[in-house]
Amino acid sequence: MSVKSLKALFRPELGEISAYRVPSAAPEVKLDANESPWSLPGEAWESILSAVRRTALHRYPDGRATRLREALAKQLGGAPDEYVLGSGSDEVIALLATAMSKPRPGKECPAVLFPEPTFVMYGITSRAHGWRAVAVPLDDRWDLDVDAMADAFERKQPNVAYYASPNNPTGNCFSPERLERLILGFPDTLHVIDEAYGGFARERFANRCAEHPQCAVLGTLSKVGLAAIRVGWVRLDRALAHEVEKVRQPFNLNALSQEIATLALTDLAPTFRTHVAAVVTERELLIEKLARHSSLHCFPSDANFLLLRYEGDVTKLCEDLLSRQIAIRRFSKGDARLQNCIRITVGTPEENRRLVTALDEILCP
Ligand SMILES: Cc1ncc(COP(=O)(O)O)c(C=O)c1O
Repeated sequence: MSVKSLKALFRPELGEISAYRVPSAAPEVKLDANESPWSLPGEAWESILSAVRRTALHRYPDGRATRLREALAKQLGGAPDEYVLGSGSDEVIALLATAMSKPRPGKECPAVLFPEPTFVMYGITSRAHGWRAVAVPLDDRWDLDVDAMADAFERKQPNVAYYASPNNPTGNCFSPERLERLILGFPDTLHVIDEAYGGFARERFANRCAEHPQCAVLGTLSKVGLAAIRVGWVRLDRALAHEVEKVRQPFNLNALSQEIATLALTDLAPTFRTHVAAVVTERELLIEKLARHSSLHCFPSDANFLLLRYEGDVTKLCEDLLSRQIAIRRFSKGDARLQNCIRITVGTPEENRRLVTALDEILCP
């Protein structure tokens, strides 16, 4: 068989999808990936190293991640068996796409619905699993356009709907009343509230979800300081969690990640809370400083990053920053409204100072 005939066996949808690429060379100030800017203090490292030393590396990890599930349930509510864990919430999105993929009667394939712009992996992962992706534009304030969403629910009957709140890349939370209207109006869809950035928000919608079995909450440790260990989860109705568990690889969470994540949710929780609070303080300071530039318009943010509209050449601005060792994010594809926008992750006070100085030099030479 030739490569050509083997390629013909790949899913046709892959022809339309690009792999998610991340730049490999990291500049000195990395403000492009919504990570936490804080490395861990010495005492936290000591606890982690002791946990690593206790780990039996010659054995498979606990396939149920029992202690981690218990820690999650204690910290975030619910029962341990309402959680399905993954290697980052990226994997959890793929688990839902595998498990909930039965087309509705009369439909060729299952559909997933999300507002746009939003986190790109809802679309990429679902399409790679043979789903139809339905994207409904957010309104002018980056909030849910409830009527357009309701119309899409009726016509497309999605199996799953995703709402990142706070949303990436717009930074805002969706209004709870609009979310609730959709969740109550369309109870035959699984409504997944993605709280990847929930820790940085003033209010968390997820607290209201427990009342509705059609509602699930997606979470991750990536944004609060542990992106490297790849731990994410979804909390959903126990009977649904039981089904999703059937498609999870038995040892998808390695033993070291389980140990570190459990510590992060227990003994080390105060350290992570302090880091999150420091990011929120820095976010507000950064908003104030960037407001001095009339060519930048900063959208309100409840996350660990800011979305800004720039009245100028975005490509040139990003290049000028990169030449000063500062990486930020721009959007060359997707929603046209983002073409003149940049996304800046909140850094440490020193990183933010470098960013502000660089912008002063570039924008007011
Ligand atoms: C809204 C949102 N959800 C989920 C993720 C993925 O997180 P994880 O690192 O847990 O896979 C991201 C990452 O950027 C995100 O922005």
